[in-house]
Order: sequence, then structure tokens, then C-alpha cells
Amino acid sequence: MPTLDVSVHLDPTSLAAQMADDVRDGLTRTPKVLPPKYFYDARGSELFDQITRLPEYYPTRTEREILTAHVADIAAATGATTLMELGSGTSEKTRLLLRALRDAGTLERFVPFDVDPAVLADASASVSAEFDGLTVEPVVGDFEKHLDQLPREGRRLLAFLGSTIGNLDVEQRATFLDGVRASLGQGDAFLLGTDLVKDPARLVAAYDDSAGVTAQFNANVLHVLNRSLGADFDPSAFAHRAVWDADQEWIEMRLESLRDQGVRVADLDLEVTFARGEQMRTEISAKFRREGITRELASAGLELVHWWTDPRGDFALSLSVPMS
Ligand SMILES: C[S@@+](CC[C@H](N)C(=O)[O-])C[C@H]1O[C@@H](n2cnc3c(N)ncnc32)[C@H](O)[C@@H]1O
Repeated sequence: MPTLDVSVHLDPTSLAAQMADDVRDGLTRTPKVLPPKYFYDARGSELFDQITRLPEYYPTRTEREILTAHVADIAAATGATTLMELGSGTSEKTRLLLRALRDAGTLERFVPFDVDPAVLADASASVSAEFDGLTVEPVVGDFEKHLDQLPREGRRLLAFLGSTIGNLDVEQRATFLDGVRASLGQGDAFLLGTDLVKDPARLVAAYDDSAGVTAQFNANVLHVLNRSLGADFDPSAFAHRAVWDADQEWIEMRLESLRDQGVRVADLDLEVTFARGEQMRTEISAKFRREGITRELASAGLELVHWWTDPRGDFALSLSVPMS
């Protein structure tokens, strides 16, 4: 197995400090809220991987279908030597892109970038083993903070798949897309996966599967806080909820308190109370329309040059380039 030089921009101390700030802020708001990035410890990444294979969770297989149909176009349009991937997770679908760029004869380097070191290490080792001669440079970082750490050399394709962008609200997306634009130069490109607005019943089912895997994923954030911040959440005293917000056009995942209860977060010296029926938001998953995302990209100085969807119009992949 080749040795991988992992670049870490989230050392355990700064991660803990960030988590402490985020959790104190989120638990003292009304309504309470937690950022979705704290789902992803080793167990959270494993649960997300299971979610991608659930019958109700159409986004992963649909994005794979679109990629399969268009990777050769993407490779030809970008001529990328470096593929960088944000929120890379297992980099499962990314292998389609890597193969297409290899077949086109341009691929030299892969830079997976994720907040979870465990999933990043596994994926990097497995990609290295599969792609002989490929330079793999994993980065542990937060895509809301560390985009300036992406490498600058080569002709770069920055991929952000899985509609993870939907976990950001409109303001966070604007900041994020500005950062994406700032990290790209002429000749580079941005490949973005976006889940599209559709029948709310299908959307809710995708976030509330019958096997209860998404419920376990949602509750995992409580286990993470118990372990990382000395909290005493009883995960069995919270129920998973997935709700479609038709005004915002996003799914909200929430944890609903099943009884009146107090929770202590020892490392923050913080006591919070939950009333029975109180809901805490743990994730938004915004759904997109072509006009809206084209406008958001353009506001950041990115011009959408390709738009690919599946025949049902469930999911889209777009390719954008910096405006000159
Ligand atoms: C919804 S999963 C998508 C995984 C994969 N890209 C896919 O398409 O299946 C989100 C991934 O982004 C990572 N992630 C979440 N928030 C992040 C952040 N702020 N910075 C970097 N990675 C993050 C998670 O660890 C996870 O691997």
C-alpha cells in the first residue's frame, strides 16, 4: 500500500474548539440547531454510506447514472490533470471521473477533501490501490473554511458531489461559492451535484427510510457530542423527523425530544432543557432548480456551461467555469 501524505487543516485542537463554539451557539438558540458536519465521525460516515444504498435514497444512484452517461464529456471538456473533491466521503462515484480522466490521458493527481479523517484515509488508500501511479493528496479540512488550502498547480477540476451543497443555506452557499471561485483560475472547472425539487413525498421518504438508517444517522450527532464534549444526551429520548419546507424548498432533519429533559454538556459547562415535543434542527438539505443555481453560480463569478440530468429530472450535474 503506498504511503499517503495527509494534509491536515483541522487538527484535533481546532476541531474541538470549533465544535465547542458551534454547539454552544446552536444549543442556546431558539429553536435549537446543530451543524450537519458533526454527523460525520467514523460511525456517521459508515451510516451515510449505508444510506446511499437504501431504496428510498435516489440521489446517489441517480448521480451515478448521470456521471456514467457523461464522464467522458466532462473529461473532454475539462482536460483536468488534478481532480479535487470536496466532502469526498468514500469517493465511490468519483472513481468514474478518475477513470475517465485517466482514459483521456490527463489525470495526474487526486485531492480528496473531507472533515472526517477516518473516511478520508480509507478512501485515499483504496483509490491509491486502484489507480496505479496516481498521486493522492488527501486534505482533512472544512470546506466552509479551508478552500484556500486547495492546491493551485495544474489544470484543476473541483468536484462537489452528492448535493452536499444543499446542507448550506443561501448565505452560506454564497460565501462558499465565492470561495470556490477564488480558488479556481482560468482553465479550471467546478462540477456540482444538485438534488432537484420534486414530489415532497419522495423527498421525505429519502430522509426517513423504512429501515431507520437515517434515524440512526441523525441520532449519531448526539453520540458525537457525548463523546467529544462530555455531554449526557440520551439518544433514545429523541425521535428522528424529516420535514419538507415548501417555502424554503428544503428538507429539514430534526431530533424531537420525547420528554421534558435536561442535558448537561460538561466541557462547555452548559445545561440545556428540552420540552417534550421540542424539535432541534440537525440538517437542512436544500433542493434546487436550474435557474436558481445558475444565478447563484453567476453571482460568485462562475458561468454554468453544461447541465446534465437523468431522464426523470431528479438530480443534476452542472459544470461551471470562472467568468473572465
Ligand atoms: C452527504 S455526504 C456526501 C459524500 C459523497 N461526496 C457522496 O456524494 O456520496 C457529505 C460528506 O461531506 C463531508 N462533510 C460534511 N461537512 C463538511 C465540511 N464542512 N467540510 C468538509 N467535509 C464535510 C462529510 O464528512 C461527508 O463525507
